[in-house]
Order: sequence, then structure tokens, then C-alpha cells
Amino acid sequence: MICLGIESTAHTFGVGIMEDTKVLANVTDMYTPSGGGIHPREAAEHHSDVCDKVLEDALKEAEIKKEDLDLISFSQGPGLPPCLRTGAVFARSLALSLNIPIVGVNHCIAHIEIGKLKTETQDPVTLYVSGGNTQVIALSSGKYRVFGEVLDTPVGNALDKFAREAGLEHPGGPKVEKLAKDGSKYIELPYSVKGMDMSFSGLLTEAMRKLDDERLEDICHSLQETMFAMLTEAVERAMAHAGKEEVLLTGGVAANKKLQEMLNIMCEERNASFHTVPYDLAGDNGAMMAWLGILKYESTGKDDVEDTSFIQNWRTDDVNVTWSK
Ligand code: ATP
Ligand code: FE2
Repeated sequence: MICLGIESTAHTFGVGIMEDTKVLANVTDMYTPSGGGIHPREAAEHHSDVCDKVLEDALKEAEIKKEDLDLISFSQGPGLPPCLRTGAVFARSLALSLNIPIVGVNHCIAHIEIGKLKTETQDPVTLYVSGGNTQVIALSSGKYRVFGEVLDTPVGNALDKFAREAGLEHPGGPKVEKLAKDGSKYIELPYSVKGMDMSFSGLLTEAMRKLDDERLEDICHSLQETMFAMLTEAVERAMAHAGKEEVLLTGGVAANKKLQEMLNIMCEERNASFHTVPYDLAGDNGAMMAWLGILKYESTGKDDVEDTSFIQNWRTDDVNVTWSK
């Protein structure tokens, strides 16, 4: 089965093509805000400007024609309404013009499933860390349950905001990581974990306040140490609670070597295994939509076109995981 998957929840417009478990193509085009944060309408305009070109490039990369496609899958939510609408309209018109089935899939679950496929994990605790999300998720009684999450500013967004305040370019995560390598002094920052939920806004404000009287490298180092210790603690607690022995790290922030190292040490101490999703499949992309599309279609069939409207706040634990044993 050849499935074309479309991602359009936020910054990234992506088209990926999977033939069963094989990635044939994965093309993305990212909107960069002109200043400040993301403007949903501008991002959606970006997506409609680039969609035809991204589709064309993906088909070329996969060396197939549109007519070879068996299924269209798209990110139905959660995300920014104008962006979701653009993706849904594009997906629907493709499916209708080719007269093939369509399925809408959950963005967060797509991150998990492509991660499981690529790392060959069976039943992990997933740490999904990106600009818009920070969640600790594990499968329990047929649903992906969110065991813990950041209640205010997600980790990637916090790093980006800090970087902007420090005069660094967007995206801030990689810049902070680089500077942190030259930091040595640990500056105490607010540490806030309640159960498996976390809060980063107090820490962010304090880190910004330190910009006047501490070295930037030291603040970056301390920011990473503190945030990632909180994430590691929440993941460890979820593993104990849910009885899992694998950790899967995904999302844009998964690229961070320090975070990988801290989680890996925790896993080694527990005799658990640690896995990071490869870079091109960890950030937002279309291939993960295509893969979850195949899983969903093979277990419950196609969606009716009337049921393909976007779902802005689609919760991870609203979805019945019918494809997993
Ligand atoms: P989502 O829609 O899933 O929330 P997103 O739009 O934020 O995703 P991603 O590509 O998943 O997009 O993640 C981008 C985020 O990852 C940015 O906040 C960026 O700063 C962060 N990031 C990228 N590389 C690193 C790194 N090496 N260390 C820390 N953060 C990083
Ligand atoms: Fe994402």
C-alpha cells in the first residue's frame, strides 16, 4: 500500500510518502515568522503557497505518479485552525480527484508511531518535545495516555523565547545547546515538577532576568540542566507508574544531545532502553502522517469525507488505538 501523508498543524507543511513500512519521500517546507511568534494566518498562507510544489517534489523523490497512490492521510489535529484547514482542504481535494480513500490522523500519535517503527520499540514511554508540545505518553488500556505534560510554556517554545530575549536567532533550541557547551557555572533556577506535570514559565522568567548579570553560556547551561532534569524525572516516574522499560524521545527538541544524554543515563540506571527518533522523522513531517494513515486504514478503513473536518484540540487520549495489540 502506498500512502501519501500531509502535515500542516503549525510551522511546517510536509508531504511524505510511505510504501508499507518504507519511507519513499519526505519533503517539508517551513514557515518562518517575520518577527515574534507564529502568526496562524500567515503560516496557513505559506502552506497554501507551497503545497503544490512540496507535493510535486515528494512524488519526484518517491519516483511515482499521483495515480500510484492508494491512500491519502492528513494531520486532522491538534493544531492551529487556519493551518489545519489548509491541510484538510488540500488532502480532500487530492483524494477526491484521484478517487482514493482518505483518513484523518492525530498529530501527536503520528510522532509516536513513526518513532516506534524506526526504533523498533514495542511499548515505550514517549517523551514528545517540540515547540508546541511537551508530553510524556504511554499506551494503557488501548489508548495513548498523557501521563505528564508541561502546563504552561512547552520546552521548545521556552528555549525559543529565551533565545529571542538574549538576541539569538530563531529557532533558539540549537543556539542554546551550542552556547551551553561553554557554560560551566550552575545558576539555580526554579524547578517545578508536580507528579508528572511540569511548569517552565517561572524558570523562563528567572533565566531571562539573569541575562543582565550572568554569562550567557552559564545561563544556557543552567537552563538546559534544569529543564531536562525535570523532563527526565517525569519520564522516570511514568516508567515506574506504567511499568514500561523503553523510552522513545521525539519532536524537534529530540535533536538535543544533552537531553539525550540525561535520559540515556536514567535508562541505564533502570536497565531500560533508550531510543531517539532520527532527526528527519522527529520534527513535524508528512511521512509520519502517511505511516499512521496506513495503520489506521488497515485496522478500521477509510473516513467518510464528511468526517474530515479538522479537530483543533484533538486530545491524544481521545483516540482508540485499534491497530496496536
Ligand atoms: P509541534 O507542532 O509538534 O509542536 P514544532 O512546530 O515546534 O512542532 P518541531 O520541528 O517539532 O516543530 O520543533 C521545533 C522546536 O525544536 C523549536 O522550538 C526548536 O528550538 C527546537 N529545537 C530544534 N533543535 C533543537 C536542539 N538541538 N536543542 C533544543 N531544541 C531544539
Ligand atoms: Fe509535532
